[in-house]
Amino acid sequence: MTQNSTPSTTAQNAMWGGRFAAGPDAIMQAINASIGFDQRLYAQDIRGSRAHAAMLAATGILSDSDAKAIGEGLLTVLSEIEAGSLQFSVALEDIHMNVESRLKEVIGEPAGRLHTARSRNDQVATDFRLWVRDQCDAAITGLQALMRALLAQAEAGADWVMPGFTHLQTAQPVTWGHHMMAYVEMLSRDVGRFSDARARMNESPLGAAALAGTSFPIDRHMTAAALGFDRPMSNSLDAVSDRDFALEFLSASAICATHLSRFAEELVIWSSAQFRFVALSDRFTTGSSIMPQKKNPDAAELIRAKIGRILGATVALFTVMKGLPLAYSKDMQEDKEQVFDAADTLMLALAAMEGMVRDMTANRPNLEKAAASGFSTATDLADWLVRAAGLPFRDAHHVTGSLVALAEKKGVDLPDLTLEDMQSAHPAITSEVYSVLGVHNSVASRQSYGGTAPDQVRVQVARWKEKLA
Ligand code: ARG
Repeated sequence: MTQNSTPSTTAQNAMWGGRFAAGPDAIMQAINASIGFDQRLYAQDIRGSRAHAAMLAATGILSDSDAKAIGEGLLTVLSEIEAGSLQFSVALEDIHMNVESRLKEVIGEPAGRLHTARSRNDQVATDFRLWVRDQCDAAITGLQALMRALLAQAEAGADWVMPGFTHLQTAQPVTWGHHMMAYVEMLSRDVGRFSDARARMNESPLGAAALAGTSFPIDRHMTAAALGFDRPMSNSLDAVSDRDFALEFLSASAICATHLSRFAEELVIWSSAQFRFVALSDRFTTGSSIMPQKKNPDAAELIRAKIGRILGATVALFTVMKGLPLAYSKDMQEDKEQVFDAADTLMLALAAMEGMVRDMTANRPNLEKAAASGFSTATDLADWLVRAAGLPFRDAHHVTGSLVALAEKKGVDLPDLTLEDMQSAHPAITSEVYSVLGVHNSVASRQSYGGTAPDQVRVQVARWKEKLA
């Protein structure tokens, strides 16, 4: 005898069960329900429903007394959810039907009128837009806090010298302030991306109903205004079916997390025993259970890694959305967990980075020593040959290269070569050359706009301090 699969059907769905003779299989319920995660949208859902009910009354679709009962009942449901006293039901699938069902228990018959001229399709699109909009604001706030922490570092160390790298090989001396300000610039573009995305997503899908709009005389401008949207979306099919706003949020998050990851990597390198450019505070490091000397930069390492989750979420939602026909498809329910996780991850990474930057101490003597080693002022020497001796830059480059080779052979740095050594490479070299070989002179000379000279850094710090005030 073959065994049948266990009949595990449940009761008919109270919201849409009219044409169904049986309830869903337990596995159907498990794959279908989103309440496990979309309960995070409860505040947005209730806010949207209250705006909808008020509009239904203002347009005469709903009686004032019903609208009043709905508005007040929704506040009761809100406080129940906030107090943690409402048991969500998986049979009710999602946050929308859980809220409506509880509303029915609280106020009775008028609750059934709330869903007039609305669908869960425009409802979820509205809730999710409101949620992602808040996350854009949170990202901007977190970014600005981190920018202020970087500014404080840059201001303190506008003239501290450190090696600048290309290919992670010593290139030219730069200032600590300049390096910090590079990240301020990157993060400011992240702020720009989140605020652009926010402005673009700030249109209301509510009233698009299932996909085609509604025959009721609704006022979509009224609900849009009540929810802080700039205007209603102009096409009902577009309103319920696009998630480009979530893709934009994820994309901006992925770019931002990439910036954080690069800086985190620098902090890991800089705090190593081999570099000792910075000391991270006890508050943002951990010890080892076996090696007593260890102070591990775990926060930096984790920030370096977080881009993995955020980019994963981004790729996942792009993959869900590609190829979907208009309008709503259930596939789109897969948008939320990705965005929730990416947003949580980004906000945590921003906060951790801010704390680390605020607490870290630059090791000035080590930075300066490192800045002066590795022939870091070779370009200054070549530039001097162009300026003082009139050599074409290519020839100056060649002469300097031969001096680097000589210094390397002698096991010294460029400023340690004698004038005789220098003149053996080119007779026009005078003792004046030594002034450009010092790292402080080197950075001070890079006065071009956006260059590393302390004066230039101070100009940028002042500009950003004013912008972020
Ligand atoms: N839980 C659903 C989602 O997140 C809500 C919309 C469901 N719409 C529907 N027609 N079944 O996408």
